[in-house]
Amino acid sequence: MAKITAGIGSSHVPAIGAAFDQGLTQEPYWKPLFDGYPAAQEWMKKHKPDVAIIIYNDHGSAISLECIPTFAIGVADEFQPADEGWGPRKVPVVKGHSALAWHITESLIMNEFDMTIMNKLDVDHGLTVPLNITCGIVDEWPFAVIPIAVNVVMFPIPSGDRCWRMGETIRKAVESFPEDLKVVIFGTGGMSHQIHGERSGMINRPFDTAFLDDLTKNPDRLRKIQHVEYVQETGAEGIEMVMWMTMRGALGKDVHEVYRHYHVPASNTAAGLIILETDD
Ligand code: DHB
Ligand code: FE
Repeated sequence: MAKITAGIGSSHVPAIGAAFDQGLTQEPYWKPLFDGYPAAQEWMKKHKPDVAIIIYNDHGSAISLECIPTFAIGVADEFQPADEGWGPRKVPVVKGHSALAWHITESLIMNEFDMTIMNKLDVDHGLTVPLNITCGIVDEWPFAVIPIAVNVVMFPIPSGDRCWRMGETIRKAVESFPEDLKVVIFGTGGMSHQIHGERSGMINRPFDTAFLDDLTKNPDRLRKIQHVEYVQETGAEGIEMVMWMTMRGALGKDVHEVYRHYHVPASNTAAGLIILETDD
C-alpha cells in the first residue's frame, strides 16, 4: 500500500531559485538562508520517497487569469518548468506519477473535491524552488511529483480549513492505492510577505513562529484562521500558507517535527522550512 510518511512546508520565493541558478548561494546576503538547507537535503536523501505530492500555486505562469481553477491536479507523465520574472528555470523536467495522480483525482472527486484535471501543466517557482531547497542542484529529481495547484492568486480563495480537509482526503486516497509507495507531501508558499503596495516588505515573525509551532502543538488553532487574519497579520501573499494546511491535514493526527529553518529576509519574504514526520 502507498503511505504518506512526511510533510514539508517550504517557502517558494523566486529569488531563491535565481540564487541557486546563478551560483549566489554563498554570497553574504544569501548564505544565512542557504546554510539552513543542507540538513533538509540530507534528511531527503535518507528518507528516499518514491513520490512527492506538491501543493503549490501557479503565479500566472501556466494558468492565466482567463480561467482559474480552485484546485487543479497534474496527471501527466511530465511537467515542463515555466516562470514569470526570470523566465523558465533551467532545472530538470519534473516527472509525474500518472497512475497515482489519476487514483487521487478519482478519489478526491468522489469525495466532493471537484478537481480540475490538468493533462498538461507547466510548473513555476511555486513548485521548483522547494524541490531545489530539499534536493539541491541535481541532474534529475530523485522522485516522481504529483502537482496540485491551489488558487491563492484571486479571491475567492479556498479557506485554510477546506485546504486541510482536502489533505485528509488525499491521505485516504494514497492509502487506498495498492502499490507500495513511500509518499511525502509538500505545502509551499508563505511565510509572511506582501510584495506590493504600502505594506510591501512586511514580515510578522511572531505569527510565523506560532504557525510553525502549532503545526505540531495545536493544528486545530491553525484550521480556524480566516482569510482576513492571514492578510492582516501576514500580508496579502501570506495567504499562500493555506497550502501548508493541506500538507498538515494529509499527515493525520500525530506528527513530530524533525527540522526547522526560518530566515528573514529572502527577497520580500520570511522564508520558512519545516519537516514533519508522521507518528503512525
Ligand atoms: C516573492 C515571494 C513569493 O512567494 C512569490 O511567489 C513571488 C515573489 C518575493 O518575496 O519576492
Ligand atoms: Fe508565491
